[in-house]
Amino acid sequence: MRRILVAGASGQLGQELARLHWPQDVDLVAPPESEFDVTDPVSVARVVGDTEPDVLINAAAYTAVDRAEDEADLARKVNVDAVGHLVRDADAASAVLIHVSTDYVFDGEAEGWYVEDDRPNPTGVYGATKLAGEQLALDADCGLVLRTSWVYGALGDNFVRTMRRLALERPRIGVVDDQRGCPTAALELARAIRAILEADSRPSGLFHAAAPDDATWWELAVAAIEQLTPPPEVVIDKLTTAGYPTRARRPMNSRLSSEKLHASFGVRLAPWREALAEVSRELNAPTTAESQA
Ligand SMILES: NC(=O)c1ccc[n+]([C@@H]2O[C@H](COP(=O)([O-])OP(=O)(O)OC[C@H]3O[C@@H](n4cnc5c(N)ncnc54)[C@H](OP(=O)(O)O)[C@@H]3O)[C@@H](O)[C@H]2O)c1
Repeated sequence: MRRILVAGASGQLGQELARLHWPQDVDLVAPPESEFDVTDPVSVARVVGDTEPDVLINAAAYTAVDRAEDEADLARKVNVDAVGHLVRDADAASAVLIHVSTDYVFDGEAEGWYVEDDRPNPTGVYGATKLAGEQLALDADCGLVLRTSWVYGALGDNFVRTMRRLALERPRIGVVDDQRGCPTAALELARAIRAILEADSRPSGLFHAAAPDDATWWELAVAAIEQLTPPPEVVIDKLTTAGYPTRARRPMNSRLSSEKLHASFGVRLAPWREALAEVSRELNAPTTAESQA
């Protein structure tokens, strides 16, 4: 029996990991934040000590990119200090720590797709804290770091759900069309983690794990809204980053090449339009929270 412990069970990735179908010999434990607060070293030591996991997946994070500029201390506590606690206790339990990081460690100045060896240079507090956190995880013998990007899904707050809602509420919306990234379904990332663990019981190192193809936020919004049934009559204007100022600067290009993940573990995430169609089918089903709202 292999035991997998998930931190951050209420987030997009945490929820997808918790509802994924795992092999029969896997016992997945995903305590709520009230029982497993990653910023509290006592809580982390107690939960890891009681669970004795073989694998500890850190899906907990401070992910509010703009708010992080004003809450740098809190962002650091969750994205950096907590990783230190998790590394210490994963190491003590001889567990593998799978830590998730972000495309926002890059400044977006590159022309092509980012590979793992490219130099990170975050443009904001969120990216800087995530970079410091991934370095802590990589410095430990037990760490596997997966950088992902533009995460959305049927559960939790995300861009796709926001666009669907706005399209039903407003006749016209504007979306940035000059930033490029790889929209990644949380479910696809959870499946990739399961596949990595099937391929290698003690994976380690730094890997990109994102959809293999790219989009702008406008392209993602259009595709997400097209999946509504019936599609609403909404005009979707293209905005520029300069015309839509935000508190934190975002990279213009944060496309992650996930070729190393494929070469090392034989794992490839689904193209984003395919994954979006699957997520949209769930969102369109009458039983989802969004449909009931
Ligand atoms: N979302 C994206 O677009 C994106 C892009 C690139 C990389 N990533 C990375 O992917 C990973 C998963 O992201 P996600 O989209 O699933 O994020 P998410 O939905 O924001 O989930 C993160 C979860 O961590 C929880 N959390 C915060 N502080 C905690 C603490 N002290 N103890 C335990 N849990 C805590 C949050 O709870 P509260 O909601 O109550 O704060 C939230 O439920 C993160 O490492 C993130 O940095 C995300």
